[in-house]
Formats: sequence, C-alpha cells, structure tokens
Amino acid sequence: MKTLLLCLLFVSSSLHARTLENWLTVQEKASWQKLLANLSPEGTRAGAVIASPQRRDPDYFFHWVRDAALVMDVVMMDQRQSPSAINAKHIQQYVDFSLFIQEQTTLTDLGEPKYHVDGSSFNGPWGRPQNDSPALRALYLVRHAEHLTKQGATPASLRSLYFAELPARSLIKRDLEYVAHHWTEPGFDLWEEIKGMHFYTLMVTRQALLEGAALARKFNDQGAAEHYAWQAVLVENRLDQFVTNHHFVTTRDRVEGIDYKHSNLDTCIILAFLHVGDNGYFRITDSRLARSVKLLEESFNRIYPLNQRGSVATALGRYPEDTYYGGNPWILTTAAVAEYHYRLARTTGKSRHIKIGDEYLDRIRFHSRNDGAMAEQWDRHTGYHISADELTWSHASFITAMRERKAAKKSLGL
Ligand code: NOJ
Ligand code: NOJ
Repeated sequence: MKTLLLCLLFVSSSLHARTLENWLTVQEKASWQKLLANLSPEGTRAGAVIASPQRRDPDYFFHWVRDAALVMDVVMMDQRQSPSAINAKHIQQYVDFSLFIQEQTTLTDLGEPKYHVDGSSFNGPWGRPQNDSPALRALYLVRHAEHLTKQGATPASLRSLYFAELPARSLIKRDLEYVAHHWTEPGFDLWEEIKGMHFYTLMVTRQALLEGAALARKFNDQGAAEHYAWQAVLVENRLDQFVTNHHFVTTRDRVEGIDYKHSNLDTCIILAFLHVGDNGYFRITDSRLARSVKLLEESFNRIYPLNQRGSVATALGRYPEDTYYGGNPWILTTAAVAEYHYRLARTTGKSRHIKIGDEYLDRIRFHSRNDGAMAEQWDRHTGYHISADELTWSHASFITAMRERKAAKKSLGL
C-alpha cells in the first residue's frame, strides 16, 4: 500500500514536472518571438523598443528608456552567448536610436523617461525625471562595450559608445556624466509615481558608475574614471540609509507624488538586486533581502484573492498599496522572485531554491494563455491578464528567469 502510494506520488510529481518543463520550453520560445516583435515594429524609427503594442487604456506605444534598456540587455546577453546577425542588427539600431534621442531637447535632459516612437521628445505631463533610466542604459551598454573590447574592438572603433571628451557626445559617457552629476537630486521612482530618493535608482546608479569607471579607464579617461568611482562610493553611503528593521525600504525623502505608500515595501527591491547582477553593493544572500521578500509575500497573500486559492506560489505585485488598474499582481515581479531563488541556488549551492523558483514559474503558467501572450498584470480576482498586452518587459523578465534557472541547474550539476 505504502509502495503504491509512493509510486503514485512519484508518477504524479514527475508528470507535473514534465508538464512544467514542456511549458517552460514553449513559453520561452514564444517570449523571444514576442520580445523581438516589439523591436523597431512598423511605424517606428529603427531601434525603438516599444513598451507594448497597445495604444490605448493604457497607451504604451512609446520608447521607455528603462524598459528598452532591460529588454536590450536580454538581447545583448544573448548575443554574447550565441551571436547572430539579427541580434547584431537590433543592437546597432538601438545604439543609433539612443544616440538620436540623447540629442533631443527634453524637459529633464537625460532623465526623461519616455520618447515617441519616432525618437522625438515626449513633453506631456509625466513623472520626471526618472534617473534610473540613463543609469540602466549606461550599465548595459558598458557591458556590451566591454565584450566588444574583449573581442578585439579598439577604442577608436567604439567612439560612438565611449569617447573621452567634454561635453560628452558618445552614448555611454553622456549617460554617465548625467548620472554622476544628478544622482543626489530627487527623481521619480521606476513606477513613475513618487518623487524622492529610491533604493532601486541608487542601486543601478552605483553599478553604472562603478562599471562605467572601469570602462573609462580602458578608454584613457582617467579623470572621469576617478570621478565616477568616487561618486559610486558616495552612492553606497546613501544606500546604507535604506536599511531598517532588518529589511530594505524603497523610498526616502519623498518630495511629491502618491502619499499612501505607507509600508515603504516594494518588489523593486528584488528587481534592484537582479538588475545589477552579481557584483552589486549588497549580496543576493543578504538576510535583509530575504526579509523584504517575506514581508512582501505576506501582504500580497492577504491582499490578492487569487493567492488564497490553489496551491501555486504567491503572485506578487509592485507594492501593497498599489491602485494602478485596481492594484494587481504583475508578471515581471512574480518572475523576479523565481529568478531570485535561482540566483540563490547558484550562489549557495542549495538545490531547494530551484524547486522554490519553479513554483513561481508555475504560477505564471497557471495564468498563462495558449498563445504565449503576456500582459503587464493579472486581475487580482480572476487571474486574467490585464493592462498593457504583450508587455515587452514581461517577456524579458521571463527570459532572464529562465536563463538564471539554467545557470543554477548547471552549477549544481542538475
Ligand atoms: C502611469 C505609470 O506608468 C504607472 O506606473 C502609474 O502607476 C500610473 N501612471 C499612475 O500614476
Ligand atoms: C508602468 C511601469 O510602472 C513602468 O515601470 C514602466 O516603465 C512603464 N509602465 C512602461 O512599461
């Protein structure tokens, strides 16, 4: 009897595992296709990365600098692993588009969060500046430039990316100069809602400055390198002020914007760790991060009815008090927790984190659509996809979670 039960358990769990595995493979392919479809689509200037093809309720048919950087990082990382002509073309177009928008006159210089798809500035009312945007763009392009250098590219051939001159006209240096001179000023957070100082923005700023300093040295820009590196240290001191009661808080010194985010908890704390990579200021194993994740999950379990049914992992939103589209779980924040656990598995060698990570991907599968489409959010009651459809960043976040999953399994010999 006992053996039979064990056999049944084994069969059902391996069946389950197989279906998840199959779905992951299919979804990853679909996500790649859908991500690529949002690069330079019809009606845009070549190199534009649309946040989503949706043009109303909400209108996401814009080039958001943040979304574009995160999405193109996925393409650039792929290019480093398995180079292709099509990736190379997209990267070149993104670089050209970015150089073009850096030339536009905007309301908040390079802190401008989004541009029209023809590359012209968007001057309507919006939460600006959003200084994580130029930091992210610089950070991922620094890594791209580092890679090209290792491949043998000379500084002269990379002039449009980095060139030691002031005023800066090269893509990366322009962003680094802006970031190095403006990071102490309050700006809007990545969710475009609160003006103040933000953990996420500071984390990506510090990383861009530090890795940017190393690149500047290679390009014989010694003085700039020292300046960026020194600013990075100052950012670190500021970051220390975001630790409280054994967890991280998301905003300090709020100036304007929504005023009801009382918990000061936010899933972008996790995103900050993921988006800076392995050499961030804090370690992925930091107990204060683990505590932040736990607190977030507890509140999302209370708040979202869909978390009270079924047995898949918690679906997470941006932050507990969120009201955007009614306040719902998001795909990219749920994928982030999966990725967080895979990173933990890879860094600690503990395989149980792979199983835990899989439960979050299973949550995404639970709400998945047959065509592999991914919107921005799931309705907190029904689990249906809502808000912008085919959000490029949702697909990107699924792909990066999968990449980390493979890396974790490989490092554990699984
Ligand atoms: C649009 C922003 O993109 C979104 O993040 C925000 O929640 C809403 N505006 C409300 O401010
Ligand atoms: C709203 C999100 O809050 C913001 O982070 C994002 O950049 C835009 N939507 C575009 O996807």
